[in-house]
Amino acid sequence: MTATNARTPVMLQLENLSVEFGKGAQRVRAVANVSLQIRAGQTLGLVGESGSGKSTLGRAILKLVPTTQGKINFDGQAIQDFSPSAMRPLRRQMQMVFQDPSLNPRQRAGDMLNEVLDTHQLHKGEQRQARIHELLALVGLKAEHATRYPHEFSGGQKQRLGIARALATESKFIVADEPLSALDMSIQAQIVNLLIRLKSQLGLTLLFISHDLDVVEYLCDHVVVMYLGRVMESAPAAELFAKPRHPYTQALLAAAPIPDPSQPAPVVVLHGEPPSPLNPPSGCVFRTRCPHATAQCAEHIPELKNLAPEHAAACIHLDDI
Ligand SMILES: Nc1ncnc2c1ncn2[C@@H]1O[C@H](COP(=O)(O)OP(=O)(O)OP(=O)(O)O)[C@@H](O)[C@H]1O
Ligand code: SF4
Ligand SMILES: [Mg+2]
Repeated sequence: MTATNARTPVMLQLENLSVEFGKGAQRVRAVANVSLQIRAGQTLGLVGESGSGKSTLGRAILKLVPTTQGKINFDGQAIQDFSPSAMRPLRRQMQMVFQDPSLNPRQRAGDMLNEVLDTHQLHKGEQRQARIHELLALVGLKAEHATRYPHEFSGGQKQRLGIARALATESKFIVADEPLSALDMSIQAQIVNLLIRLKSQLGLTLLFISHDLDVVEYLCDHVVVMYLGRVMESAPAAELFAKPRHPYTQALLAAAPIPDPSQPAPVVVLHGEPPSPLNPPSGCVFRTRCPHATAQCAEHIPELKNLAPEHAAACIHLDDI
């Protein structure tokens, strides 16, 4: 967790951001009217079932997929309409870490980092070598690892290299899209601790996408819950996990594996799969699976309603739940 408050500058602000794929009957609104903000040094967790639009949102922020409407403000600049050349100086500052670091099997670790530094014209000669060793050390690897090929690294070490690559450009904002899901449990904990150390050491701002709610609770300051492209709830992590207000958040938390199987079964159960994004329900998109749905829920798309400072949920029946 990071100590931030209302006076900490906002690093990233999204206003009504939408991303659509396809046309006509094949049109999918993968991200629909998403507004959120991340303060500098904060970690925002993005959760929701498969297909809820988490990766698309992460990629849209980095302008790796075109947005259909809305605003992206990064560190004081409105970048939604930036051309690739206008984005170039910002590319250094915003990077992505993936589940699979996709390292080139024929490229040594040091050469991979060298290539990134070269592309961005960072450091020269001996300084370049020193920076490569510094990056390896930063992620808990050794200088001698620079001469190794990807197959000589473990899964955890490969992910460390993926993180080093993202940090090579002195980036300040990282989108980490399920960076742990391909790793064993014990290695996951090491990578989580690495992210925590890097955050405090480098002052990173992080968008952390994950299905693992325990890790999100441990790592994140704030959490946004998505369903079929829309934000259902947004709250400080401690508040969201202690007192989820939206029926979808409640169901998602209840559906998470219970560490102690002797505990009673959850009251709210998330049945079946989300509806097809090609044909989302009218009104509240969660209504086909919501235990509290009424006829009214089919009529209007609920707005995000403020419940407490920095805590909002999109449901018309919040007062009755
Ligand atoms: N390039 C694309 N072309 C067409 N549809 C896409 C494309 N990328 C994503 N989608 C659709 O957009 C929706 C959101 O997908 P996205 O990958 O963002 O979800 P996600 O929350 O990251 O899911 P997961 O947890 O499985 O990674 C899905 O319906 C998906 O099929
Ligand atoms: S608006 Fe209706 S369907 Fe949607 S979450 Fe609230 S009660 Fe459920
Ligand atoms: Mg994804």
